[in-house]
Amino acid sequence: MAKRILVTSALPYANGSIHLGHLVEYIQTDIWVRAQKMLGHEVHYVCADDTHGTPVMLKAEQENLSPEQLIEHVHEEHSRDFYDFGIRFDNYYTTNSPENQQLCEEIFGSLSDAGLIDEKEVEQFYDPIKQMFLPDRYVKGTCPKCQTPDQYGDSCEACGATYSPTDLIEPYSTVSGAKPDRKTSTHLFFKLSDARCEHFLREFTQNTDRLQPEAANKMKEWLGEAGETKLSDWDISRDAPYFGFPIPGTNETKFFYVWLDAPVGYFGSFLNYLTNHQSLDTTKHTQDFLRKGGETELIHFIGKDILYFHALFWPAMLEFSKFRTPTKIFAHGFLTVNGQKMSKSRGTFITARSFLESDLEPEWLRYYYAAKLNDSMEDIDLNLSDFMTRVNSDLVGKYINIASRSANFLAKKFDGKLTDLSLTDNEVMCCFFERSETIADAFEARQYSRGIREIMALADRANSYIDTQKPWELAKSASHTDIEKLHEVCSIAINLFKILTVYLKPVLPTLAAGVEGFLSLTSLKWSDSKKCLPRGHVIKSYKHLMGRVDQKLIDKLITLNSQESIEPKTHSSEPNTKKMTVKKNTVENASDITIDTFNKIDLRVGKIIEAKNVEGADKLARLKIDLGDEQRQVFAGIKSAYNPEDLEGKLVVVVANLKARKMRFGESQGMVLAASNEESGIFLISPDSGAVPGMQVK
Ligand code: MSP
Ligand code: ZN
Repeated sequence: MAKRILVTSALPYANGSIHLGHLVEYIQTDIWVRAQKMLGHEVHYVCADDTHGTPVMLKAEQENLSPEQLIEHVHEEHSRDFYDFGIRFDNYYTTNSPENQQLCEEIFGSLSDAGLIDEKEVEQFYDPIKQMFLPDRYVKGTCPKCQTPDQYGDSCEACGATYSPTDLIEPYSTVSGAKPDRKTSTHLFFKLSDARCEHFLREFTQNTDRLQPEAANKMKEWLGEAGETKLSDWDISRDAPYFGFPIPGTNETKFFYVWLDAPVGYFGSFLNYLTNHQSLDTTKHTQDFLRKGGETELIHFIGKDILYFHALFWPAMLEFSKFRTPTKIFAHGFLTVNGQKMSKSRGTFITARSFLESDLEPEWLRYYYAAKLNDSMEDIDLNLSDFMTRVNSDLVGKYINIASRSANFLAKKFDGKLTDLSLTDNEVMCCFFERSETIADAFEARQYSRGIREIMALADRANSYIDTQKPWELAKSASHTDIEKLHEVCSIAINLFKILTVYLKPVLPTLAAGVEGFLSLTSLKWSDSKKCLPRGHVIKSYKHLMGRVDQKLIDKLITLNSQESIEPKTHSSEPNTKKMTVKKNTVENASDITIDTFNKIDLRVGKIIEAKNVEGADKLARLKIDLGDEQRQVFAGIKSAYNPEDLEGKLVVVVANLKARKMRFGESQGMVLAASNEESGIFLISPDSGAVPGMQVK
């Protein structure tokens, strides 16, 4: 029976570019959707930009644009990125739409009618210069426990203490730098602590297959034991100025919090898709897919970081407002690159666009992700050298090889015509047919890595079949039987190649389209994996289908994502402390540099979070430095001037893109700047107070 499924990927924020981390999710979903469509199910895949909230509002202001202009640009950019990676949404929309606004108002109205909306006074920081309430992430100050300056409003990165933003000592607004006031205002809350919500969420998340077991466990932790209410009410309003939908009846003084309207954007995108497709019956589809009681499925693909919103808030909103609830929530893990969190300074915070600009094929990435993905919430690692090996050996060495080894004989000796295989009882071919269900199941269950393993095992079998049949020897023979055998072997090989193409098509749609052209086939469906091409079917002569990944392309990718590091011409004796000597003659043209050369050095503010002696090296201190989004180990030759203990908490300036250097005691991942001369010793360069780790020094 054909299933009817509405599928979504999380809506990317409209304040940043798509990167390879995002692509894990969109590629995972796209593969799933393509496989289900090939299997004959009715699938609608929708997504949109998540456009509302303070970050978008502030970013637009910074760029001298209206929020509407900003989100329009980003919409174009995101759409292009997704398209170029073969991701085919049936609709890619925006949350800033009339459809979404109307749905939000309806849902809010129903929740109010159900008595699930409450008003409470909330005290919050307020920026007197920007005249706006500050979300927690825009307030920093000194940690009330350990006195480390510049800590975020909820927790201290130095000592790990958690507290509320109002506990910070000397708080400041990161928007204007002003000292924020404390101001109260009335907020609207969704009463998740209401017994009805709690009861529903327990049912919804426990003892069902809606969530992965690990996700269901997380929910259990969040929900607590029955009777012990752990859920707090959810603050769903924000005060003006805010880029979002005004809450009805508040005179545009209050807006829906972005996380209220974002998931509703899934439905908004679906409604917009229906209006744009005359062939679809809008009323019926709305009823079937969005309202309670339909026989359809709603499946959300998300990252593990937003599980809370999708498994608690969103289903509760739907349940109490006459809308259907999700059938499944599929959460995936996070992407790491070369085993580490993506990092701008290591050149591994890789944007989708830079990948394309490096002339790397998007389908190489789709294949690599598929080979790694499964149905768990584990993180997945993109190891760039493994990426190259894997793609080259599997796709080029195994799969494409089957076609290139057999097609030319067919073209040369048999006018490209296949022989009749309908009565051939070939063991390899039977085995290829038989795996059809198992491989389809692997895709359905999101165990892509298992599916890919199965597919590559088949490719191995196809190659060893060719190896044992030795068509190149048969081709040299003058015997009629040998030539008939050659015809059969090559026809079988091409059929095996076709079946593998069916299996790989959800992952490699562009390559599959190339193969369809080469084999003179129209769009392959899953059922084609159980069929033989008929006698006399003519294929074209083989032409190049896919190339190899070259190390040069990967190098280019890393360069594009990092500001190139400049190698120092001479190495100083204390390698990681740059001694800045005062130059007497400043008008020395030959050594003048342009601003571009200077910009190649990625100078960042870092905070020393740990400083230790290094055994066996009198002059060196081992520093652990916080660079905002990551931590580094740096060895610095500053012991003659500083006691390591005195350095903890100090802000310094770090050359963040200096090539890491292996030393006897470990790797040094950067350099700390210091001034020095023979007489007076060494002086670390420190930014004025207020600077925070990760800030660029320009
Ligand atoms: N706007 C919200 C989602 C709203 S859905 C109603 C959001 N946006 S996001 O741009 O930060 O992330 C979009 C999706 O990409 C999320 O599911 C997120 O988990 C995923 N990823 C973002 N960075 C990622 C990695 N580094 N690795 C894997 N997935 C990542 O969250
Ligand atoms: Zn602290």
